[in-house]
Amino acid sequence: MKKQNLKNTQYLSGPEILKEMNISWSKEMSKETKDDYQKVSRVIPEIEWPFFAPYIKAINILKKDMNAVILAHNYQTPEIFHCVSDIKGDSLQLAKEAGNVEADIILQCGVHFMAETSKLLNMDKTVLIPSMKAGCSLAESITGNDVRKLREKHPNIPVVTYVNTSAEVKAESDICCTSSNALEIVNSFDSEEIIFLPDEFLALNVAKETKKKIIMWKGRCEVHEEFTPEEIIEFRENEPGVKVIAHPECSPDVLEESDFSGSTSAMINWVKDNQPEKVLMVTECSMSDNISVENPNVEFVRPCNLCPHMKTINLQNILESLWNKEHEVTIDPEIAIKAKQAVNRMIEL
Ligand code: 13P
Ligand code: SF4
Repeated sequence: MKKQNLKNTQYLSGPEILKEMNISWSKEMSKETKDDYQKVSRVIPEIEWPFFAPYIKAINILKKDMNAVILAHNYQTPEIFHCVSDIKGDSLQLAKEAGNVEADIILQCGVHFMAETSKLLNMDKTVLIPSMKAGCSLAESITGNDVRKLREKHPNIPVVTYVNTSAEVKAESDICCTSSNALEIVNSFDSEEIIFLPDEFLALNVAKETKKKIIMWKGRCEVHEEFTPEEIIEFRENEPGVKVIAHPECSPDVLEESDFSGSTSAMINWVKDNQPEKVLMVTECSMSDNISVENPNVEFVRPCNLCPHMKTINLQNILESLWNKEHEVTIDPEIAIKAKQAVNRMIEL
């Protein structure tokens, strides 16, 4: 079933690739994929499995055949997260792992800035992203030119940039950070003032914990800015005893109403370690679905909001991405050198 042995000269769509690989739903496949289905059976109805299973099988075959690994962010849907990914995690974990990948191809199930970060840290590899629509409202809120202007306005002030930015913005920064190390990175500078870009809410949340003066930018995560403290208060009234854990891209008022805040992986670990009876994860919807499997005694209470960018990735376009070797992430070499320094300073800290 080697891809080299199949005729793959022209672009093929997902269903055409399945046909070419001679993979379709059958009773045998139902038996073969029983273990995979168990991992997602709490969140994927059995009736939908015949659609997912052939794609999962084809992706896993192609991955081996093409010497590729799949990196998946914690917000990917359960069938991607549990059935085709090799490495999963929050932005920091994925960045660290990307640099260690030995396979020829990294296929990034996440948004574009994550794929760019993988490329920066492993320039010799082919990095693919299944959808070019997988952007991020934070990354889109600022350009390299904006950073240059800020530096002119605030000379000699270090620039700390959230990884949710383009390589061009990272290249203009002193160091990057993620939601799991933002405070530590800000505090690592001697300077009393820090320019912190581009997430205003993360900056406000860091500002509450540090003595330094934080100069901010008006970027927002379109998913996390939607949550309100009123909504959380109402949930606490309707769901007595519920524990509330929130991502630091939420407003400080939302964090004030929460029992814990941390990166996506820190939130996952908090649930694993504390095993609350009921938990409200104030973040992207797939997180609760992904970890409900490993935490069968925890009840996951909504609300959650969908990230439209993360949700542009699906099994069909992952298969198409591998087969057609699309969309390859490339970065201007001059920008890449500088951006890589900013990411590496973070990793090495
Ligand atoms: P994490 O680094 O916590 O995974 O966050 C990434 C992100 O995009 C959250 O919206
Ligand atoms: Fe960007 Fe927000 Fe989506 Fe994360 S959840 S990728 S910050 S838009």
